[in-house]
Amino acid sequence: MKVIIINGPNLNLLGKREPEVYGSETFEDYYIKLKSKYPSIQLDYFQSNIEGELISKIQEVGFSYDGIILNAAAYTHTSIGISDAIKAISTPTIEVHISNTFSREDFRHQSYISPCVKGIVIGFGLKSYELALQSFILD
Ligand code: DQA
Repeated sequence: MKVIIINGPNLNLLGKREPEVYGSETFEDYYIKLKSKYPSIQLDYFQSNIEGELISKIQEVGFSYDGIILNAAAYTHTSIGISDAIKAISTPTIEVHISNTFSREDFRHQSYISPCVKGIVIGFGLKSYELALQSFILD
């Protein structure tokens, strides 16, 4: 099984960025642990701060991978381009958020991604990514 985690803007700063919201672990450390816990899965990872690069990656993997775990970060709340990309591909996508976006500012309650995805995991810290991965394994 081939699954990719795609992270959007500012998630490269996990560990340093607002640790009271996002925790103190870097994504690279978490990703290494997650990969070693699921050795039979080809688990890839891509991060970009640039909307078009995220769209290009979704298009690139969207007809050959078994799953996409997408944290579009701030683009969740703004990007019609990313939601159109998810609609255009055949790979099922799970939307993930580290924080509970519904317990935060009103502008984080709107997601352009949610209507286009298979499911959503929100608010479990970095564990949200593993829960999304397990949803593909249980399928
Ligand atoms: C986030 C929530 C978004 O509102 C925010 O812009 C992020 C991270 C999360 O994982 O909790 O950058 O997607």
